[in-house]
Amino acid sequence: MTRILITSALPYINGIKHLGNLAGSMLPADVFARFHRATGAEVLFICATDEHGTPAELAAAAAGQDVRTYCDEQHQLQKDVAAAFGLSFDWFGRSSSLRNRELTQHFAQVLEARGLIEERTDKMVYSIDDRRFLPDRYIEGTCPICAFEKARGDQCDNCGSLLDPVRLINPYSTISGSRNLEVRDTRHLYLLQSKLQDRIRAFIDSHADWPLLTRSIAYKFLDEGLIDRGITRDLHWGVPVAVDGVPRPGFEEKVFYVWFDAPIEYIAATREWADATGGDWARWWRTDQGAGDVRYIEVMGKDNVAFHTVSFPVTLLGSEEPWKTVDMLKSFNWLNWYGGKFSTSQRRGVFMDAALELLPPDAWRWYLTSQAPESSDTAFTWEQFQAVVNKDLADVLGNFVNRILKFTDSKYQSLAPAGGTPGPLETALAERLTLQITELTRALTDLEVRKAAQALRQCWVLGNEYLQEAAPWTAIKTDPDRAAVIVRTALSLVGLYARLSRPFIPFAAATIAAAVGEAERLDQWPEADGTAALLSAFAPGRGVTTPDVLFRKIEDAQIAEWRERFGGSPSDAD
Ligand code: MF3
Ligand code: ZN
Repeated sequence: MTRILITSALPYINGIKHLGNLAGSMLPADVFARFHRATGAEVLFICATDEHGTPAELAAAAAGQDVRTYCDEQHQLQKDVAAAFGLSFDWFGRSSSLRNRELTQHFAQVLEARGLIEERTDKMVYSIDDRRFLPDRYIEGTCPICAFEKARGDQCDNCGSLLDPVRLINPYSTISGSRNLEVRDTRHLYLLQSKLQDRIRAFIDSHADWPLLTRSIAYKFLDEGLIDRGITRDLHWGVPVAVDGVPRPGFEEKVFYVWFDAPIEYIAATREWADATGGDWARWWRTDQGAGDVRYIEVMGKDNVAFHTVSFPVTLLGSEEPWKTVDMLKSFNWLNWYGGKFSTSQRRGVFMDAALELLPPDAWRWYLTSQAPESSDTAFTWEQFQAVVNKDLADVLGNFVNRILKFTDSKYQSLAPAGGTPGPLETALAERLTLQITELTRALTDLEVRKAAQALRQCWVLGNEYLQEAAPWTAIKTDPDRAAVIVRTALSLVGLYARLSRPFIPFAAATIAAAVGEAERLDQWPEADGTAALLSAFAPGRGVTTPDVLFRKIEDAQIAEWRERFGGSPSDAD
C-alpha cells in the first residue's frame, strides 16, 4: 500500500491564523490528505504549533501571561479552530514538546560532530532597560542613508536599503521605546551551511518535478551562496542549548533559534503521535526502517520555502543519518486582503475563528481552494467570495442535489422509482463525467488545487445540464419509465458528488452522502472508468431523504455588514 506523509507548515503560536495562512498551507494539505486516504493510501498528516521565539514571549507578556500558559491556551484554540474547519490532522503537535527538545538537541550534537557547527562571537544590540538582546526587527532608528526616522534594524522601508542595526542613528527598542542600548559581544552556534552548498544544490537538482515557485526560490538562495547561520539566540523561551540535560558552558541563558527547531518538529510531532497512539514513527522518517517507501509532501507559503529547501535539508542531510527528506514541496503564493496583506499583528483581514461565525467551514474551504493563490498572488474580496459561494455551491451543486431529492420526495415518496433502462443521454453523461473525474484525479495527484476544483465544478455542472436536458418533470407525464431512469441516474450522481467533493467540502459531502444512503462509501474515491456502471447502479426502491438547504446564498446585506465589521474595500489595499 502506498504511504503518504503530509506536513503543513506549522502555524505560529501568536494567535489564531488568518485566511491567508489557511489557504497557503493547512487547507490544501488537508485536501491532499483526504484525497489520498480515499484512494486507499496510508496517510499520515502532521501539523503542530510553532511556539518558540521572541514573538511568542512578547505576545505572552502583552497578554499578561507566562509564556508556557500562553502557549498552552493558544495551542488549544488553534487546535479547536482547525478541527472546526475540518482539518484532518492525524496529529497536531507542539514544537515546545519534550520530543522536539530531544530531537533538536540531538541534531545539534550530531551536526557538531560532523564539523558543521561552530561557536562564533557576534556583536548584538542589547537593551539595558528591556534586559535582553534585541532581534533586528525590534530595533528602529534613523536610516543612515535617507534619514527616515522609522527604519527597522534589518531594512529601511523608506529607501529599501538593507541595514545592520548597529548602523542605525539614534536607535531605540520597539519593545519599550528605550534608547538605552549598547552593542555587546555574545557567543552563538553557527550552522555551516556553506559547507553543504554542493549537497543542497544536488538535492534541489534531483527534484526537477517541483513547482517553479519552489525551485526558483531555492536556486535564488543557492546562487547567492549559502551563508552560515546563527542557530542560537539570547532568549529564555526555546529549546535549551544542552546535551543530555547538561547546558553547554556559556549557553546557559540561550536557546536554539526558532527556525532551527520548528521543522524538526515535523519529526518530533510524529513521535508525539506515536507516543499517543502506539504508531511506529520510524517507518515514516527513517529510511533504514522502511521510510524509503514513503512519499513525503510538504505544503507551505512561499515565505517558508527557503527554510525548507535549504535550512531543513542542511539539518537532515548534514547529520549523515538516514532521515527521510521531502519528495514534493508544494508552495503557494499569497492570498491578499484586497490589494494589501493580511496581517496578524495589525489584525487586518478575516481570521479563522471569525470566519466560522459568518458561514460554515465548507463555504470558506471551497472559496479558498477554488481560488487558491497557486500560480500568482490572489486577492480576497467580499464580492468574489459571495459570487463563488453563490454560484458554485448554491446554484450548481446545492441546486442539483436539492432539486432531485425534492422531486423524488414529491413524486415517489422518497423511494427510487423502478423501470426503464439508460439511453444515449446517460451514456453521454457517463463519458463526459469520466473525463472530468480523470482530470480531477490527476490534478489532485499532481497537487494542482485550482485545476482540481475546476474539474470538480465541471462534474457538478454536468449534472445540472443533464437534469435540465433530461427534464424528468416532463418525462413523468408521458414516459414514466424514462423518468425513472433519469431519477435513478441523478440519485447516483448525488452519491458520486459526495465522494468526489469530500476532500474540498467534507461537511456538505457527509450530509449529501447520508441523504442517499451512501455514508459508508464516502471514504472511497471513485474509479473514473466505473462511472457508467455507477450511474445505473441506484437500486429501485432505495430510500432517500431530503436535507435542508445545503448552501444558503450570501445576501448583499450580509456582505455590507461584513465589510462594515472587517473592512475590505478597494481603499484597504495598503
Ligand atoms: N511558523 C512559520 C510561519 O508561520 C512556519 C514554520 S514551518 C516549520 O511562517 F516547519 F518550520 F515549522
Ligand atoms: Zn532609508
